Amino acid sequence: MNNPNLRAVVTGTGGYLPERVLTNDDLSKMVDTSDAWIYPRTGIRSRRIAGADENVSDMAAAASRQAMERAGVRPEEIDLLVLATITPDTPLPAASCLVQDKLGLVNATCFDIVAACSGFIYALDVARQYVLSGAARKVLVAGSEKMSAITDWTDRTTCILFGDGAGAVVVERSEGGTQNGILSTATGTDGSLAPLLYVPAGGSARPTTAETLAAREGFVRMDGHTIFKYAVRNMAGVTAKAVADAGLKPSDVDWFVPHQANLRIIQAVAKTMDVPMERVVTNIETTGNTTAASIPLALHAAVADGRIRDGDNVVFGSFGAGLTWGAAVVRWGK
Ligand code: UT7
Repeated sequence: MNNPNLRAVVTGTGGYLPERVLTNDDLSKMVDTSDAWIYPRTGIRSRRIAGADENVSDMAAAASRQAMERAGVRPEEIDLLVLATITPDTPLPAASCLVQDKLGLVNATCFDIVAACSGFIYALDVARQYVLSGAARKVLVAGSEKMSAITDWTDRTTCILFGDGAGAVVVERSEGGTQNGILSTATGTDGSLAPLLYVPAGGSARPTTAETLAAREGFVRMDGHTIFKYAVRNMAGVTAKAVADAGLKPSDVDWFVPHQANLRIIQAVAKTMDVPMERVVTNIETTGNTTAASIPLALHAAVADGRIRDGDNVVFGSFGAGLTWGAAVVRWGK
């Protein structure tokens, strides 16, 4: 940390979306809803759904492989993989261990982070701390979710929101004097708000039984209305803090890449932050809410199509179950 030239730099991005598209019209044949209700309230028109044999570790491996290719990093060079997910392939072991095997990350320590929609920011923060402390040189940070597996497809208040997918970035240590890299991170948690978004059963407190299955307690329960209010307040607050900590003003923000939970939440946060929507990256219309995958997926799309360029100030902001929230500022480029 004493070296002023030391930076944690994002050197590559990757994304993966399953092939199957589930539209609002498809949903209207499954539950009592319609595109006319869903789209104006959420900004979502369709989402991707993973195949039966397509799991979180497969999607994370695909996105991570692409991020490593774009960074020009070989699998054996990675010394840490942090995977953010709330839908690991199995409760044990961590899905990151399966990703390590799939990608041949033979020199990497691997673990998962459970912070729901803030998972990618938490994981990026961990990567930054490892790199700046000297504990790691090349880190893979991934967010991957198979939300379709924990979605109650008979509950119209939740099933309209979620989708599957994965995104990843490579974070590297740079001592070459670049001004690019992760400029700031900020995170927060309020566990007293846990009941707003949770899965009642399937953990050690309430293991799965015939009773919990019948009561559909293995699926997400959510108080969407209350979460909406906290989302805007906490996401705007933490993002403003990260921007200020990076020494920037709102007018310095070239791109805001928010968690994609609801377009109205994104618009409200952007307005509070004084960032015009032309500088906000959204893909929610075709992905829905992919939880920990949402920010890296939107980021990858904007990097791949050339919107985000070297030297741009890119800001991430999120909130999610926990409740958790987080933000990060990256000056783009190696
Ligand atoms: O990453 C964090 C994940 N969670 C979130 O970000 C959730 C944030 N919250 C939201 O996005 C919004 O609260 C929702 C989109 C989930 C819901 O929108 P809302 O404007 O808060 O609707 P509401 O829950 O207050 O429901 C309004 C009405 C209700 O009917 P009554 O009681 O007024 O007769 C619902 O039963 O709309 C009804 N409703 C629906 N109708 C058609 C709820 N879901 C649906 C639906 N289709 N899918």
